[in-house]
Amino acid sequence: MICLGIEGTAHTIGIGIVEKEGDNCKILANVFHMYKPDKGGIHPRESANHHTKYFPKILEESIEKSNIHIKEIDLIAFSIGPGLGPCLRTTATAGRTLSLLLKKPIVGVNHCISHLEIGRALTKCSDPVLLYVSGGNTQVIAFMDGKYRVFGETLDIGIGNCLDKFGREVGIKFPAGPEIERIALRGKKYIQLPYSVKGMDVSFSGILTASLLLTKKEDIEDICYSLQETCFCMLAEVAERAMAHTEKEEILLGGGVACNKRLQEIVKIMAEERKAKFFCPPDEFLVDNGAMIAWTGLIMKESGMEMSIDETKVRQNYRTDEVDVKWR
Ligand code: ATP
Ligand code: FE2
Repeated sequence: MICLGIEGTAHTIGIGIVEKEGDNCKILANVFHMYKPDKGGIHPRESANHHTKYFPKILEESIEKSNIHIKEIDLIAFSIGPGLGPCLRTTATAGRTLSLLLKKPIVGVNHCISHLEIGRALTKCSDPVLLYVSGGNTQVIAFMDGKYRVFGETLDIGIGNCLDKFGREVGIKFPAGPEIERIALRGKKYIQLPYSVKGMDVSFSGILTASLLLTKKEDIEDICYSLQETCFCMLAEVAERAMAHTEKEEILLGGGVACNKRLQEIVKIMAEERKAKFFCPPDEFLVDNGAMIAWTGLIMKESGMEMSIDETKVRQNYRTDEVDVKWR
């Protein structure tokens, strides 16, 4: 079965074309384009306009790359939530249109769960704790009693948001995470920042404020280094607590911030120390992408989940633990 999946919850519009043969996940195409504002943060309507503009191009390119005819597509999947209202509605409209035009079934996919499912499919881990670290989301998720449960999460802003906001104040363009990673490599001195872990939850706004105050007297290299070390150790700590609590022996990374090599290293050390296994898919499947939506759509459909057009209303605050995970 072949699925075309559309991602568009926030700044990225992406289309993935994925084939499922048994348990095998074959990526036929994964094309995406990210909206990058010239200054300031993401404006939801501007981002939705970006998605509208790039959708036809991305559709064409993904079909071309996949080497299939559009008529060979068996299923349409789209990211139904959580995310920014205007972006979600644009994506859903595109999905519904394709479904009706091609006369193929449609499923709306929970964005957060798709990060986990694509990681499971591509790394072949079976029952991991997912450390999901992106711009808007920071969660520790694991499967228990028929659902993906959120064991810990940020109490304020997402880790990526924290990095991007810090970047914006010091003149680094969005997305700031990759540039902060490069600058941090030159840091030599660790400067103490507020370490904020509460049980399995974390918070980043205090660290952000403290880091910005430091810019008046410390070198940017040392601040970026200290910011990363503090935030990433907090994330490794809550992920480890969730692993101990759930007795799971695999840790999987997901979300754009997981592209960070230092974060990967810290989490890997934590896993090795407790004799657990560490998994991380390639970068293009960590950031928001259509392939993860297509793959999750395929396994949902296979377990009998399908939606009528009426049921495809977007869900801005769709929570991870609301989804009935019939495929596991
Ligand atoms: P979600 O909708 O799931 O919250 P998102 O919209 O934030 O996701 P992603 O593509 O998953 O989108 O992640 C983007 C974030 O990842 C940005 O905040 C960006 O700064 C961050 N990021 C990307 N690469 C790196 C890196 N190498 N180091 C740190 N952060 C990174
Ligand atoms: Fe995401």
